[in-house]
Amino acid sequence: MLCRMEQHRGGSVVFFTGYSGSGKTTLATALLSALETKTTRVLTLLDGDEVREHLSAELGFDRAGREANIARIGWVAALCARHGGIAVAAPIAPFASGRAKARELAAARGEFILVWVSTPLEVCEARDVKGLYAKARAGLIPDFTGISSPYEPPTDADLEIDTSKTSVSAGVGAIIAELEKRGLLEEICPNA
Ligand code: ADX
Repeated sequence: MLCRMEQHRGGSVVFFTGYSGSGKTTLATALLSALETKTTRVLTLLDGDEVREHLSAELGFDRAGREANIARIGWVAALCARHGGIAVAAPIAPFASGRAKARELAAARGEFILVWVSTPLEVCEARDVKGLYAKARAGLIPDFTGISSPYEPPTDADLEIDTSKTSVSAGVGAIIAELEKRGLLEEICPNA
């Protein structure tokens, strides 16, 4: 195997953030499928709803519950990166502080790419794929992001994708281009 100095032994974390219904899961799933054909690195998907079901089932949606959830996701994702894999995380992650901690953890042994799925709230609410916005407006779901709980737009996003303007394939293409630019899809060099 040809090993170059700039090859990364550490892996990476692609961390999506955005409103519910913004397109995070769609982009993350499509990214995973595309990556399977482009890299031999181990791929791990940490989808928001799945993590809530399996890893963070007891947590609520108040600020403390969300911060704890993001801390768990950040830790697992960093662990994947530490072993040379690529973790793709897709929670709402509404608070800058939690996202910053996830970046810090991942950066210790890999690279962190923050993808802000900036689809406007009006579009997410009009889509209302899960019917949750209607329930939140009716007061049936407390602390709902964008309705009764804040979302802090990132000022440190590495990429921004608005799915009301950009297709899934173009969005995935932009993320893959960023990973390629940073050499993160190359095979792990054992002597690096
Ligand atoms: S986060 O804020 O802690 O990052 P997370 O991504 O895990 O949120 O969970 C978001 C998903 O949980 C939403 O896509 C939605 O399906 C569901 N959900 C249930 N209650 C809420 C709520 N109060 N606010 C936002 N999403 C909620």
